Amino acid sequence: LAGMFSASPVPGLPALPARASHSVAVYFASQSGTAERLAKKFAKELKTHGHQPQLACLSSIAPADLAKQTHAVIFASTYGDGEAPDSVKSFRESLLAESIVLNKLKYTVFALGDSSYEQFCRFGVELDERLAELGAQRIEARVESDVDVDPPFAAWKDVTLARLSAIDTEKAPALSGSTAVTAPASPSTEAPRYTRDNPFHAEIVARHALTNDISSKLTIHLGLQLDESVKYEAGDACGVLAENDPALVDETIAKLGFVPDAPVEVPKFGSCTLQQALSHHYQHTRLTRKIVQAFAEKTQCKTLAALLPAEQGAHLDSFLWDRGLIDLVLEYPGAIESPQELLAMLPRLAPRLYSISSSPAKHGNELNCTIAVVRYRSHNRERGGVASTMLSERIAMGERVPMYIQPNKRFRLPQESSTPIIMIGPGTGIAPFRSFLHEREALGHKGRNWLFFGERSASTDFLYEQELTSMAASGHLTRLDTAFSRDQAHKIYVQDRMIEHGSMFWSWLAEGARVYVCGDASRMARDVDQALHSLIETHGAMSADAAKEYVSQMHDDGRYHKDVY
Ligand code: 2AM
Repeated sequence: LAGMFSASPVPGLPALPARASHSVAVYFASQSGTAERLAKKFAKELKTHGHQPQLACLSSIAPADLAKQTHAVIFASTYGDGEAPDSVKSFRESLLAESIVLNKLKYTVFALGDSSYEQFCRFGVELDERLAELGAQRIEARVESDVDVDPPFAAWKDVTLARLSAIDTEKAPALSGSTAVTAPASPSTEAPRYTRDNPFHAEIVARHALTNDISSKLTIHLGLQLDESVKYEAGDACGVLAENDPALVDETIAKLGFVPDAPVEVPKFGSCTLQQALSHHYQHTRLTRKIVQAFAEKTQCKTLAALLPAEQGAHLDSFLWDRGLIDLVLEYPGAIESPQELLAMLPRLAPRLYSISSSPAKHGNELNCTIAVVRYRSHNRERGGVASTMLSERIAMGERVPMYIQPNKRFRLPQESSTPIIMIGPGTGIAPFRSFLHEREALGHKGRNWLFFGERSASTDFLYEQELTSMAASGHLTRLDTAFSRDQAHKIYVQDRMIEHGSMFWSWLAEGARVYVCGDASRMARDVDQALHSLIETHGAMSADAAKEYVSQMHDDGRYHKDVY
């Protein structure tokens, strides 16, 4: 496996007179791991080309650290509608606020985004423009890549490597302005008919709990009626335009001392009432740094101000975590003077994405989602997730939900019907795999299917138990391995089952199986990734480095897919 990564000079580019060697900072801002993966890949290439890469997440540095670098390559993802990934939000705010001098820095930005959103690649664009504003020089024009990142990456990396090597030996032509090279969308991309701005209104035709009454959590199965104009594929997500709880909206407006009919202006939407704005356009169930900052300025409150310095990150995070706008409104009455002033500090309400759990081949026009209902109590108040509580409690059967399809081209069944697949989907991570399994069954695909499912307890939280066990009994599901974490004294998770069956897992991999992971991004996907590396080391008799290369090659070959949130 060692020869898998080519160290040969850049193909298709003229040989350079002398190759400079630079220390190059490779930064990434990743939400689901794609930017991080590209950053790692690029760092590896830099090494092969004689440079010294330093890899770091933007969240681990301060903007002032950029002034210490001479060369930087930044991979910047967006989250939802062009927003910065959660972990780098505070870096972004400091970069926009601080005026540092970056005239020693040469840089380039590889922006990642999703063209189905209006603010395509916005975070990457902001970063690129801000760095130029602070005096840094572009090595290469910014690339804006759509979800299918690998083709634009492959084209971009050769040019960028060549430019880096050329710096100092010949003057790289200065690039001015913000000329952006937009990667062409893949030819198969058809503009979706319905979008967040033009949603389809789907009737709720099914809804039931998948968890048992006495379970510690509630997960529901939702059925939405589509018609022939709405098309999706197994692996896609459903975007739901949620509405905030009207009781919370009314309470907030009353405690602010405003009237529900107060006229306001919502950017990119137009005029409406304050009540409509807080119901449909703004997120206020959770706090952000910006809201706290605005209250701190208005009230001169030292406790709030003390949360804001960069080194207070952890305190601020725990303060934001379980509070909403209403808590500040109650605590600081009169702080906000006008409805418009309030809206200026709030983030826009983003659509909520749910992986679709139905199969177009099997379920026809009924689309299913598998939804964990978010309910919790904190600071003496019952709280809930905006969309999950709306879908489970505030909309009746027969009513309609504004929705659209969010294609996920990176999460597809293999083209080849005989390719074996291994699916790891604890909790609501089961959703796309229920879709995959039904799709393969309905299409008569004979490839073997292996599912790892995990939840708290078999008796209360075995989502889709009937369907899954009958697929296992019929043999369509070749293996079904479950990990019920709370059914014994010690925790058992899906990754423990992977290790337990490591030898068989390895033999499936060796036979060309594809691996899919869906569910929690923060811990589960990371632990599963570790387990994958470890079982490859053990059963494939590889060193840690070789196992890493193997997994990285799986990525490149489209054999390792993640849909994590
Ligand atoms: P726990 O809540 O009992 O710790 C779905 O939420 C399942 O994922 C639950 O059984 C949950 O277990 C489990 N889970 C929690 N952390 C996990 C991790 N790091 N990796 C895999 N599964 C995890």
